[in-house]
Amino acid sequence: MNEAIRPGPDQTPQAQAGSRSPELSVIVPTFNERDNVTVLYRRLEATLAGIAWEVVFVDDNSPDGTWDVVRALAQKDSRVRCIRRIGRRGLSGACIEGILASSASYAAVIDADLQHDETQLPKMLSLLASGQADLVVGSRYIEGYKSEGFNKQRAGASALATEVARKMLRVEIADPMSGFFMVRRDRFEELAPKLSVHGFKILLDLVATAHGNLRAVEIPYTFGARQHGESKLDSMVALDFLGLVLAKLTNDIVSLRFILFAMVGGIGLVVHLTTLFIGLELFKAPFAEAQAAGAIVAMTSNFILNNFLTYRDQRLKGFAILTGLIMFYIVCSVGLLANVGVAFSVYDQEPIWWLAGAAGALMGVVWNYAMSGLFVWRK
Ligand code: GDD
Ligand code: MN
Repeated sequence: MNEAIRPGPDQTPQAQAGSRSPELSVIVPTFNERDNVTVLYRRLEATLAGIAWEVVFVDDNSPDGTWDVVRALAQKDSRVRCIRRIGRRGLSGACIEGILASSASYAAVIDADLQHDETQLPKMLSLLASGQADLVVGSRYIEGYKSEGFNKQRAGASALATEVARKMLRVEIADPMSGFFMVRRDRFEELAPKLSVHGFKILLDLVATAHGNLRAVEIPYTFGARQHGESKLDSMVALDFLGLVLAKLTNDIVSLRFILFAMVGGIGLVVHLTTLFIGLELFKAPFAEAQAAGAIVAMTSNFILNNFLTYRDQRLKGFAILTGLIMFYIVCSVGLLANVGVAFSVYDQEPIWWLAGAAGALMGVVWNYAMSGLFVWRK
């Protein structure tokens, strides 16, 4: 058969756009968005007509099988790709991985749940392509913004976090918490090694890490209501945010994970003292027993909190919880010895109680953190 006259599938306009190397990569992080991805794909197709684009869905092995729906789309349209990650969770990490796996000069990040306004994408692209900016942010806080998807509580928390970020990290943009933006991929790749894969706040991280070296433009958009499924932002996200701010303030000397681990340790101290107090006062237990109970309760609650917060992206489940907990007890017991040992030797040279105590506590938390990463929540 004559190849030249056969009307093959590559004659369609979308295949022609698809055969050009893409100008724009759209990155869509997904977790349980089965009912939204096809709608989003159709909307992208409509709004990006005439642009050579690709879309990379990054799915963290959604229990609802979102990856399966995306894969079916990818079979019909080669502009669609699906990264299915197993054993990892996290919005920032998913976005980073998606951008790094994309191939266009410009990469956009957009939520799958149709809350962001995809019709802004061509405008964002032209702002970047004309060289006016390195980053375009879809912003909810500048003039012209409307928000349908926010309840009062969420709006208040978001405004507070924005203020903290802007003041403490000297981030200039109005809406650093936005999950909707487009960036030059070369600039992103320079900054990527320093970004945290943990948490939700990838844009804030990007802007704070760039230290003012990223020319940003903001455009207003309407944050819509979620169509299907539910939000994955929970109260843990607030702690994640706090950790990110602290990590950036220390110029990444201490990691976000370490800060979360240390915050949990601080909570553990309170738990320990409360248990000790209850043991002594309510149960009239001997000091040694009340103290031991305090230690066990605090270690257990620290383990649970770390499993839910600090290591939420590699959370232990099922039987692994039990073996993890036992390892954690062992790690912390040795950590306590290290703590007391260091405190004693500091006190020996410099008899200042708080200095010795703080040195011991620091030794303990660093030890526990390092060993937990090796033996409890190992990769
Ligand atoms: N791969 C992956 N892994 N995707 C995730 C994860 C995860 O652990 N958690 C959430 N997502 C995906 C969701 O499927 C959705 O497409 C998108 O990330 C946003 O998650 P939502 O749970 O819908 O968050 P939200 O609507 O409450 O908040 C979003 O919008 C805000 C305003 O722009 C987020 O983007 C916030 O960061 C943003 O501030
Ligand atoms: Mn959402």
